[in-house]
Order: sequence, then C-alpha cells, then structure tokens
Amino acid sequence: MIPMQCKRSYHYSSTYLSTLGELLNPKQESINNKPNIFILMNSYLLIHKYELILVPNNQELDTFWERNMILLVGSNKGGSGKTTVVCNLAIALAKQGKEVCLVDADKQSSAANWCAERETANKEPSITVVQKYDNISSTIKSLAEKYEHVIIDVAGRNSREMITAAAVSDILLCPSQCSQLDLDTLGELQQQVEQVKDLNPALKVLVYQTMASTNAKVIEKERNDFEEYVSEFPEFKALQAIGRYRKIYRDVFSDGLSVLESTNEAAANEIMDLYEEIFTHG
Ligand SMILES: Nc1ncnc2c1ncn2[C@@H]1O[C@H](COP(=O)(O)OP(=O)(O)OP(=O)(O)O)[C@@H](O)[C@H]1O
Ligand SMILES: [Mg+2]
Repeated sequence: MIPMQCKRSYHYSSTYLSTLGELLNPKQESINNKPNIFILMNSYLLIHKYELILVPNNQELDTFWERNMILLVGSNKGGSGKTTVVCNLAIALAKQGKEVCLVDADKQSSAANWCAERETANKEPSITVVQKYDNISSTIKSLAEKYEHVIIDVAGRNSREMITAAAVSDILLCPSQCSQLDLDTLGELQQQVEQVKDLNPALKVLVYQTMASTNAKVIEKERNDFEEYVSEFPEFKALQAIGRYRKIYRDVFSDGLSVLESTNEAAANEIMDLYEEIFTHG
C-alpha cells in the first residue's frame, strides 16, 4: 500500500490520509504548519496538505525542508514564452496548495495584468503579485521568507532585474524555442550565468523547449536538434518536459487563466510535467 523507497510525492484525499495515520499508529510529530512526520523504520513519512511523501533517511528529510524555491524564468530572447510559463506554473503550485508569490519585474506588466484579470473575475486560486524593478535581490529574499515559492518574470533581454534575480535564485529556467534565433542567445546567457555564479554558485540553469512542433514528422528531429544545441553548454540542462505550440496557451491568458483551468488536457499535462520536473522529488 505504501510506496516504500519512493521519493516522489503522492496526492491522497484527507480521509485516506487520516485512515492511514490511524492504521500506522506511528510516533507522530507535528511542528507548526510543517508536515506531520511519521517515523517508519528508517524512513520518514510526511503528511502535508493532502500530500504523502516518503523520505528514506535523515539527510533527505533535511533536503525536503529546503525545497522552497526561488525560480527565475528568464532569457535574452523576447517572446520565448517566459510569462506564459510563469503564470501557468504559479497556478500549478497554487492548485497543489503551495504558497506562491509571483514577482513581475518586467515593466510591460503582462504577468501583473494577468493576475489582475483573475482578481477581477474572482478566479480562485488568486495569485499574489509583486511588481519590482532594478535591483530586486533583497525584495526576492524577503518574499522567500514569507512564501514557499517565489517565481520571477523578467523582460526578454539582458536586464538588471534578470541579473539581480539570478544572484538569489535557486533555478534559472530558460524557455527557448528550437530556432537558431532563440538558441543563439544561450551563449550570452552562459556569460551572464558565469558572472552570477561568483555570487550564487548553486544556481542551476534549466532550458525548457517551448512552442515545440506538434507535427509528428518533425517532433523527433526538432528535439534532437534542441538537445544537441543545449549540450554545447555543459552548465545548462535541457528539461525532459516540453511545451508545444498550442493556441490554448494564448486563448486562456487573455482571460487571466492557465491551461490547467481549460479542457485542453495536452496543454495541462505539459504544464504538470514541467511542474513535477522542477518542484517535486524525482
Ligand atoms: N506553448 C505556446 N503555444 C502557443 N503560443 C504560446 C505558447 N507559449 C506562449 N505563447 C504565446 O507567445 C507569445 C509570447 O509569449 P510570452 O508573452 O509568454 O513570452 P515572453 O517570453 O514573456 O515575452 P517577453 O520577452 O515579451 O516578455 C504570447 O502571445 C503567448 O500567448
Ligand atoms: Mg513576458
């Protein structure tokens, strides 16, 4: 019944979790709003907001506590899909019950307008948004003390916002199409990352293929080209998750919605794949 030695989180109903808790009758600790911890042999079973997480040993438990994340979505290419990814991931997190704050550091305010649209339409979950420009490091650090996850949207070019955010982020997620124009900007990103790593050596860079073709004839070739190009940058990792070109991403955005709130399963699965690869154990 229990997925032993499994590091991924599983989602169960509250009834199931409380029944499970009674069955196990384990030593239980509950610390403020941290998860309930059940100690099972050499593993910890964490129960937190309808999530059941099995953590094999002490060390990994420490890692679990540190999983709150500052995620910067940035690139030097305009229109690569940054804001779309930021807004959809914010909803993915909020729907999992995570406390998330979106930082819109692009003066175009697309993400902030999208949040306002949700607010006007009384759409739940509502997303907290903070707009901040220039040096945003200290704002991000203080938001990270209040929220489980901070997601930052910046403009599609080298900017002070992108550099100062990268200096305090855990992950720099770079959405990129498999096009020469997009991929050519990775060289510039590498130079920026090299400099930022003097301040933030732990920064991870993940490259996410966006607006990929849905044409079966070109899918494989396009992906191979993408992976080959990204592999030229040893410090960058190409994510397995792929976002394809789908009109639904555009359509829902103007209503302040995410594809997770649409009936388009293909797009919703893409966002959940991205969410899981970045935020959950595995
Ligand atoms: N997977 C997708 N399929 C189809 N259209 C998409 C997809 N992702 C984003 N778009 C559309 O592409 C355009 C650019 O996307 P978005 O605004 O998210 O990019 P951006 O990188 O934030 O741009 P900027 O650099 O100007 O901030 C938008 O019209 C958006 O709706
Ligand atoms: Mg944008």
